[in-house]
Amino acid sequence: METLRIITEEHQNLWRIAITVDLVADELEAGGKVDPAFFNSVFDYIEQFVDRVHHPKEDDFLFRVLRQRSAAAAEILDRLQAEHRSGPGHLEALRQALAASATGASGNRDFAAALRAYTQGLKAHIRCEEKDVMPLARQVLSADDWAGIDRAFLDNDDPVFGGRAKAEFRELFHRIAALAPESVGLGAHSAGELRPGSQPVGEVLLKVAGMESCYGRIKALKGIDLEVRRGETVALVGSNGAGKTTFLRTLSGVQPMSAGSLHFAGEDISRLRSDMRMRRGICQSPEGRQVFGPLSIEDNLRLGAYTQPKGHVEEDMEKIFAMFPILKEKRRLPAGTLSGGQQQMLAIGRALMGRPKLLLLDEPSMGLAPLLVQEVFNVVRALKEQGMTIILAEQNAFAALAIADRGYVLETGSVTLSGSGQELISNEQVRAAYLGM
Ligand SMILES: Nc1ncnc2c1ncn2[C@@H]1O[C@H](COP(=O)(O)OP(=O)(O)OP(=O)(O)O)[C@@H](O)[C@H]1O
Ligand SMILES: [Mg+2]
Repeated sequence: METLRIITEEHQNLWRIAITVDLVADELEAGGKVDPAFFNSVFDYIEQFVDRVHHPKEDDFLFRVLRQRSAAAAEILDRLQAEHRSGPGHLEALRQALAASATGASGNRDFAAALRAYTQGLKAHIRCEEKDVMPLARQVLSADDWAGIDRAFLDNDDPVFGGRAKAEFRELFHRIAALAPESVGLGAHSAGELRPGSQPVGEVLLKVAGMESCYGRIKALKGIDLEVRRGETVALVGSNGAGKTTFLRTLSGVQPMSAGSLHFAGEDISRLRSDMRMRRGICQSPEGRQVFGPLSIEDNLRLGAYTQPKGHVEEDMEKIFAMFPILKEKRRLPAGTLSGGQQQMLAIGRALMGRPKLLLLDEPSMGLAPLLVQEVFNVVRALKEQGMTIILAEQNAFAALAIADRGYVLETGSVTLSGSGQELISNEQVRAAYLGM
């Protein structure tokens, strides 16, 4: 049932876009200006992704089999598929409404009304799939049915659904996030600081104040304040393009910081090069794992230890192998032969080889099947229990907050909410923004 998880993830992204568009429509009605670049990025995403991929995939695989297995499904599916077919036409009409309001041929109010009608339709459609179609599918489809459907949905080499295509959609989504008005953000709706939760663990190890970072003219981090105490696990959650990766990369020094200060173990490290930060004990497991495929597992681990005295290396490697026996078994094989989950273990192991005092994990659960996701979070929990200090960046907000002492919610480059992991999980605003259906 991987398929349902994928569809729900896609729905969550669409839902955040719909909420954002509604908020922008509010602003237009209140006299705000139309930003064609923002709307074009939204329309492009919907066209490229929803109309060309998301809907056809549902039609061709999930809905087709569901019709065969359930007579009751026909009525709902007829309606949903009619909506799939009319989607491109509605989008084209929106593009024309945008053009009309950009040239002043019609007022912003008309455009706002057209936007609202569209998002209402989109939300009703998503709600129906989540509340009616998915439960029915869970009920009536057999294990064999799911195997076939999942295979189609997970086909990574597929030119339309595959890994490369996914990366392109991510880029499109990031464009929307970058262009969304600051007042609105993407998946916004949360602000403030919750009551201090669990007792601070140790003294402050990392203090980030006013951190800013830019890509060209786009400011991806807009003044982040954040603290991590020794022994704490701190979750950094937020949707696509919120700035989690940029934050971690700026912290480890591979991405320039344009304003702000960084103190680590009492020392000002704002101007230290990344390798010197690594020597101080800031070690990162990067997004997308980035293991070196042709190199053996052992050699990948050795790379993680390049700042360490030679004497440590073999001993540390044995510790990693004790934690991840599968890596020991395959130690001489190229890392490229490992599965996604195993590569993630290797990426974490490589970071551990640098003897971190602060371990940065960037979306360790990304792209893994649910069982493996659980396993990765178990590893993080084990490290935490050994007293490791960890910053865990995750889109998988609930799983990350569940094991974190504290968390920060990041939205389009700003921290909008912070508090203990448990408080954030039970916070209405977080629930609305991240499970917003
Ligand atoms: N190399 C880049 N060039 C230009 N803009 C970038 C680059 N990398 C990221 N951005 C932009 O910076 C913003 C923050 O992106 P970032 O990758 O840090 O977010 P994220 O929270 O890690 O997202 P995700 O959950 O998708 O990994 C986004 O608007 C993104 O489009
Ligand atoms: Mg990221």
